[in-house]
Amino acid sequence: MRRLVAETRLHPAELVLPLFVREGLTDPRPITTMPGVVQHSRDSLRAAVVAAAETGVGGVMLFGVPDHRDANGSGATDPDGVLNLALRDVVKDVGDAIVVMADLCLDEFTDHGHCGVLAADGSVDNDATLDRYAEMALVQADAGAHVVGPSGMMDGQVAAIRSALDATGRMDVAILAYAVKYASSSFGPFRTAVESTLVGDRRTYQQDPANALEALREVSLDLAEGADLVMVKPALGYLDVVRRVADAVDVPVAAYQVSGEYAMVEHAAAAGAIDRDAAILESLTSIRRAGASIVLTYWATEVAGWLSTPGT
Ligand code: PBG
Repeated sequence: MRRLVAETRLHPAELVLPLFVREGLTDPRPITTMPGVVQHSRDSLRAAVVAAAETGVGGVMLFGVPDHRDANGSGATDPDGVLNLALRDVVKDVGDAIVVMADLCLDEFTDHGHCGVLAADGSVDNDATLDRYAEMALVQADAGAHVVGPSGMMDGQVAAIRSALDATGRMDVAILAYAVKYASSSFGPFRTAVESTLVGDRRTYQQDPANALEALREVSLDLAEGADLVMVKPALGYLDVVRRVADAVDVPVAAYQVSGEYAMVEHAAAAGAIDRDAAILESLTSIRRAGASIVLTYWATEVAGWLSTPGT
């Protein structure tokens, strides 16, 4: 009876799996802050993407971790950089069987760890960063990305990327805009995962957790600039924002269940404090109930496997 009348259902097709690929690895390397998640080698990444596609997961979001970093994040726009090589690999393997998305941001590639390039005074230079993002979009599109996901929270990033893609005939590449992204403590484990060198914080470009109206402004700007999908991030602490955004727009709304949300469940479950699988399903159901039609989650393949088993 509960199943018959449930108002919210989970389906593998609406899940997106974030994945890390690390230059120079021959075997996957565990990420200590995210038990169960690894930095992939190029080969193990390919296997993980094929497994996700076979389980019916809707998409993957790739993050690259390079060996060398510099002030401009040049690895991000190098066609032979780790992320771009990995995109080529997986698109060749899976074709259109799963949506292949690329994180479009400089933080994994800069030696200072910021999402953009810096001005002489050390502040993040918004407009100079837009040029780098536009270049990055073209390289990722050439590598086969179906969707690019600008996650750096620079003003005007969606417009810059859309016009660069359109001017060069890449109209079919969609933009998943990280429209609403808070300066959150929940990104801590991710920064270990990508070996971030960031000193300080991202409060000059990510949002204040106190603000929800600002989220609606960010979403309207990104839609006006050409976003195809909008995202709210993190998810669980911001379900009110997910709901407000979902009520306000007519494009698909994604929510990112981020590394800290993942780590809290895994560590609490390992300590015997909570029922892991129930906590995972409850959190995903809540994010969907709040109005997200797409959920990025590090549990995507595992949960898709559960959902494909009749009776669960
Ligand atoms: C920036 C980026 C971050 C995450 C996704 N893209 C980190 C940040 O903004 O510091 C976090 C994802 C997570 O915590 O799972 N490229």
